[in-house]
Amino acid sequence: MAVERTLSIIKPDAVAKNVIGKIYSRFETNGLKIVAARMIHLSRQEAEGFYAVHKARPFFKDLVEFMISGPVMVQVLEGEGAIAKNRDLMGATDPKKAEAGTIRADFADSIDANAVHGSDAAETAAVEIAYFFPALNVYSR
Ligand code: TYD
Repeated sequence: MAVERTLSIIKPDAVAKNVIGKIYSRFETNGLKIVAARMIHLSRQEAEGFYAVHKARPFFKDLVEFMISGPVMVQVLEGEGAIAKNRDLMGATDPKKAEAGTIRADFADSIDANAVHGSDAAETAAVEIAYFFPALNVYSR
């Protein structure tokens, strides 16, 4: 399987719960390396831009409010099949439906405060990595 990079965000709820280290530990023990990281408090414009694909969805406004409610930890994860592996570690969008032992099952409270974001495909990973780490070349390691 190819070595990939994916964008991960530890959302304001999980940062507030003080579980960044516990979530990083899951990445590390599952073969995902943290190759870049930033803690930031997103502006409304940054959050709206990041989630632009969801602009027409009924949950968009609340999602943006939530994402700007406190600091987030943004990182690039690298490893074999990193995009799908991170999605597996995250679990389903709705923590009530997430498999036991996944990050969302263990740390998320609701579908809107669901602890983590992870890119869902190679194309979105490239766009999302460039959104937060414009100086990081996604095609070279
Ligand atoms: P989505 O891309 O469908 O999920 P995922 O984060 O698992 O890739 O949705 C993006 C975010 O939008 C999701 O993490 C939380 C929020 N959201 C809601 O608040 N309500 C919803 O019904 C859905 C589908 C998403």
